[in-house]
Amino acid sequence: MQYFELASGYKMPALGLGTWQLRGSTCTKTVRTALKLGYDHIDTADVYGNHQAIRQALQGTDTDGIFITSKVWRADLHHDDLLKMGNRALSELGIDHLDLLLIHWPNRQVPIAETLAAMAEWVQQGKVRSIGASNFTIRDLQEAQQVTKVPISVNQVKFHPYNNQRDLLAYCNDHGIVVTAYSPFGNGSLVGDRKLMRIASKYDRSFAQIVLRWLVSKGVVVIPKSTNPNHLADNMDIFDWELEPQDYEAIEALDR
Ligand SMILES: NC(=O)c1ccc[n+]([C@@H]2O[C@H](COP(=O)([O-])OP(=O)(O)OC[C@H]3O[C@@H](n4cnc5c(N)ncnc54)[C@H](OP(=O)(O)O)[C@@H]3O)[C@@H](O)[C@H]2O)c1
Repeated sequence: MQYFELASGYKMPALGLGTWQLRGSTCTKTVRTALKLGYDHIDTADVYGNHQAIRQALQGTDTDGIFITSKVWRADLHHDDLLKMGNRALSELGIDHLDLLLIHWPNRQVPIAETLAAMAEWVQQGKVRSIGASNFTIRDLQEAQQVTKVPISVNQVKFHPYNNQRDLLAYCNDHGIVVTAYSPFGNGSLVGDRKLMRIASKYDRSFAQIVLRWLVSKGVVVIPKSTNPNHLADNMDIFDWELEPQDYEAIEALDR
């Protein structure tokens, strides 16, 4: 496993398990399988409705070594709503702190300073270690950075070969914000891409490993989702090999 250093001073695993649309026993089983395989990072959100299913999977595991991210929905960004959501999330997950809390989507109806002040309070109380954003544009990040007392450690955005986030990544790199790529396989839409398949066969790898390797080599965290144990194992095997520059560039050229 590789780790990226956050502006908060904590380390974040470069690979995590995505859990959007995973519910109930499917979610519990998938998280359990991932933990057994060695995943040490789980990505969830209040709106996914699976905190309790994840808690069941975490039973008997030392959660200190597991990096857990959750997200507060855009309707809960006022101070008191955020703290209420956060406390509920901790009790649903059965943990005493989150590693990372993200604003799931920006909401212009709520002053960003109010939301960030609530998050800073939570950091002070030790209930969350790092804070960040999701689906924030450069402008959204600039506004947030102007008013926050606690650094924005992460911005989680849709990022895959058809949706290359060059400008946003450059901005984040310049400002010490780690980018997390969600839907790294375009929620399945990249499956079968002929160029990716050709590169994959050259390395005797899967298309999924090629995409994840491309993202991680940019310093981007990846959170692929899979319920298939073989795919979960496949998605972990991305750290001890490299893409050659011409293949890296061929993937860059897939941007639409
Ligand atoms: N912040 C946000 O607004 C936001 C939005 C969307 C998603 N997310 C996060 O990002 C995570 C990942 O994104 P996602 O759920 O949209 O989908 P994704 O990870 O891009 O794609 C999931 C699909 O890829 C397949 N897959 C996974 N590994 C594979 C492999 N090695 N070979 C072949 N197929 C493979 C899965 O099928 P199998 O199950 O059959 O393997 C599934 O159909 C989410 O779960 C969530 O945690 C965040």
